Amino acid sequence: MKATAVAPANIAFIKYWGKNDEELRLPANGSISVNLNGLKTTTTVEFSKDFKQDLIIINDKQNKQEMVRVILHLDRVRKLAGIKYKARVISKNNFPTASGLASSASGFAALTVAAVRAAGLNLSEKDLTVLARLGSGSACRSIPDGFVEWFEGKNSDSSYAVSIFPSEYWDINIVSILISEKEKKTGSSEGQKLAKTSPFFSARLIKIDEKIKKLKQFIKEKNFAKFGELIEREALELHAITMTSTPALIYWQPETIKLINLIWEWRGKGLFVYFTIDAGPNLDLICQNKNLRKLINKLKTVVEIKKYIVSWPYEGTRLSDNHLF
Ligand code: PMV
Repeated sequence: MKATAVAPANIAFIKYWGKNDEELRLPANGSISVNLNGLKTTTTVEFSKDFKQDLIIINDKQNKQEMVRVILHLDRVRKLAGIKYKARVISKNNFPTASGLASSASGFAALTVAAVRAAGLNLSEKDLTVLARLGSGSACRSIPDGFVEWFEGKNSDSSYAVSIFPSEYWDINIVSILISEKEKKTGSSEGQKLAKTSPFFSARLIKIDEKIKKLKQFIKEKNFAKFGELIEREALELHAITMTSTPALIYWQPETIKLINLIWEWRGKGLFVYFTIDAGPNLDLICQNKNLRKLINKLKTVVEIKKYIVSWPYEGTRLSDNHLF
C-alpha cells in the first residue's frame, strides 16, 4: 500500500539538547515548540513484495548517511507491522535541509505517519509521536497540532508529545531567517552527545521544569513580552552549552550576532520582536501579527539576509492524497 504525509517543521521555545538515552532518544529534559506552516516535508512511502531493495530519494538525491537513518526507521515500522517488504520512499522539503531550519523534525514526522499507514497499521497520535521520536527526537513535536509539549519521560512509552494549545490560539508569526544555506559541520545528533561535557549543563537541568511551567503560563496568558524574554534567554543558554562543550561547538556565523544586536536595537525603539536559534547560524524571529509588516520592512534593509520565510502556528502531520509517485 502507498501513503503520503505532510509534516510541518517545528521551532522549539524550550530546547531539547542532550539525551538520557542515546538509542531510545530519551531527552534530558522536556521541551515546547510550535509547528510552522511555511516549512514542510511531503513524503510518500510504498511497501511492496515486488521491490528488491529499499529506495530512498530525499530532495531528488540519494544520500548514504540519510538513507541509513531512514532504513532503520522503516525497519521499526516493518517490525511493528510484521512485514518484510522493501519500500520506496520519496521525500521533498520546501526549504534547505541541515541548515538549522529543523528539517529532520518534519522529515521523520512525515516518514513516520506515511510509513505507518503504508504498512497498514493504525496507531494513536501518542504512539506515532513515540515512533517518530526514535527516528529523530524533535520529530515527535511535529505530529500533534499547534503548540506542543514533549515530555522527557522515564522510558520510551512515557516520552511522547501532545498539543497544549491549538494553532489558532495565538496570532503570532515566526519569521525564519536564512543567513546561510551551507550544511552544518556538526549535525544536532552529534552536537547533543557533547552537551553533558559542558559545566553548565547540570545547572540548566536544575531550572528547566520551572522554565517549562512559566513558558506554558505565558503562552496561556498571551503575555508576549514575558514569553519573548524567556525564549531568547533559553536560546542563548543552549548556545552557551554548545560553546562550552568539549570539543566546543559554535553554530553561529558573524551574521548571527549582527542580527541579534539589530533585534535588540529594534526592540529598544519599540518593535516587539524576539529571537530563538536552533543548532545552526539561522534565527527565527517571533512577533505578534500586528507587527509583522513593520518587521518585514526592517528585514528588507538587512543585506546579510539571504531569504526569509514567514510562518504562523500550524496543524500537525496529516495524511494526503497527493502522492509523490
Ligand atoms: O531532533 P534533533 O536531533 O534534530 O535535535 C533538535 C535540537 C534543536 O533543534 C537544537 C532543539 C529542539 O528542541 O528542536
